[in-house]
Amino acid sequence: MPNAVRFLTVRQVRAYPRTMSINIAPAKGKLGVLTPGMGAVSTTFMAGVEAVKKGLGEPVGSLTQLGTIRLGKRTDNRTPKINEFVPLAGLNQLVFGGWDIFEDSAYEAAQHAQVLKPELLKRVKGSLDKVKPMKAVFDRNYVKRIDGPNVKSKGSLMDKAEALMDDMKRFKRANGCERLVVIWCGSTEVFHKAAKVHQTLEAFENGLASNDPGIAPSQVYAYAALKSGVPFANGAPNLTHDIPALLGLARENNVPVCGKDFKTGQTYMKTLLAPGLKARMLGCSGWFSTNILGNRDGEVLDDPGSFKTKEETKLSVLDQILQPNLYPQLYKDLFHSVRINYYPPRGDEKEGWDNIDIFGWLGYPMQIKIDFLCRDSILAAPIVLDLVLFLDLAQRAGMKGIQEWLSFYFKAPMTAPGLYPEHDIFIQLMKLKNTLRWMRGEDLITHLGLEYYD
Ligand SMILES: NC(=O)c1ccc[n+]([C@@H]2O[C@H](COP(=O)([O-])OP(=O)(O)OC[C@H]3O[C@@H](n4cnc5c(N)ncnc54)[C@H](O)[C@@H]3O)[C@@H](O)[C@H]2O)c1
Repeated sequence: MPNAVRFLTVRQVRAYPRTMSINIAPAKGKLGVLTPGMGAVSTTFMAGVEAVKKGLGEPVGSLTQLGTIRLGKRTDNRTPKINEFVPLAGLNQLVFGGWDIFEDSAYEAAQHAQVLKPELLKRVKGSLDKVKPMKAVFDRNYVKRIDGPNVKSKGSLMDKAEALMDDMKRFKRANGCERLVVIWCGSTEVFHKAAKVHQTLEAFENGLASNDPGIAPSQVYAYAALKSGVPFANGAPNLTHDIPALLGLARENNVPVCGKDFKTGQTYMKTLLAPGLKARMLGCSGWFSTNILGNRDGEVLDDPGSFKTKEETKLSVLDQILQPNLYPQLYKDLFHSVRINYYPPRGDEKEGWDNIDIFGWLGYPMQIKIDFLCRDSILAAPIVLDLVLFLDLAQRAGMKGIQEWLSFYFKAPMTAPGLYPEHDIFIQLMKLKNTLRWMRGEDLITHLGLEYYD
């Protein structure tokens, strides 16, 4: 943890004059990126960063690498690149590691995932070969369709959490890292709700010591990261750190966190289209979404327990955006259904269909069809990169707990208790950019624009 970081209370944040930037420790030294789960998403991210570093491709889809930010008035012509405006770690400063139940190196796992072409993978083989998975904390009750040999088998869940903390320390030392970030890229765990064991840190730690079956492996990783002062993001829809015990630990240890479930294919399309329908006060009576995919994620999601976790995050999006309580005549009868089918021939190249029944003036019906032939991990990899860099920035800026400004990247954004999540992608982007402006003491942009007509 850099010494220069000052932690801010909510009151201090509110009191900050807009023209005063906050103290951000420099992004010096190496940043270790550790992923529990080294499958398609994780290895496409690692291989992609190595490929970009070698000039073999562009970091398309990454806001931190390609995005710009407007500052001041439209007439000021100040639009720096985001990574020149805030001090982010550079790609050359990143070092990769992870845990998986399989023993494959990142190179072998990327070959298995078949997302990137073999010719490209060969060009980055040297770097990926070195990334060997550490032994995982795994429980088949939480992910039923897969099993593997590379697991920590001895001791209680607390012993395993401590072993994960040792892994992090060892990795940091061996690679000369200044800081770490952990981002869950593991399989989707079965649906479970927060129970008594998740309510307080004391109950959670007792549960770790007594192997409480209510504690999922992803929660053991999250605990280990937060206890070590390492920022944690969750790319899957699992409950993981979205529980009072771990959110309290994050705040206590001054660690920024975010989640859940990367917003990539079909849900990304939903968050583009649904705000547009609502903006024009067009009604929606039905939205039927179905997907076929054939990667390991698809295989895991073929299990009803894991699918239920995914379904919850996918279904909540439309309700939150369309607000049927405010617009009952437009959305109260909306029938929303989401299906995912495992279909091996497609591998990672998912196909997602949406049939959308909308209605306009006087209730006259219309239809929209979307057929999105997408590549799941190609869409997810830049999200992993941005989250890693922004979470590291947040920590150096003294921000702790849930980072709602990173909602932009998630299907089920985490929020403070009692607050509904903001799903509209354009509001999310404005929130993200305004947070960066706030960090640097720039005026927030409201798009009011009256001053141009004075
Ligand atoms: N690809 C996308 O667009 C996308 C979008 C949103 C969310 N996700 C989520 O991201 C996650 C990763 O997706 P993927 O396509 O890389 O899946 P994948 O199946 O290729 O990789 C997941 C890896 O996690 C490993 N794993 C499972 N449990 C583990 C544990 N306890 N500890 C360590 N490793 C463990 C598996 O062995 C596997 O190698 C999934 O949960 C998926 O639902 C993916």
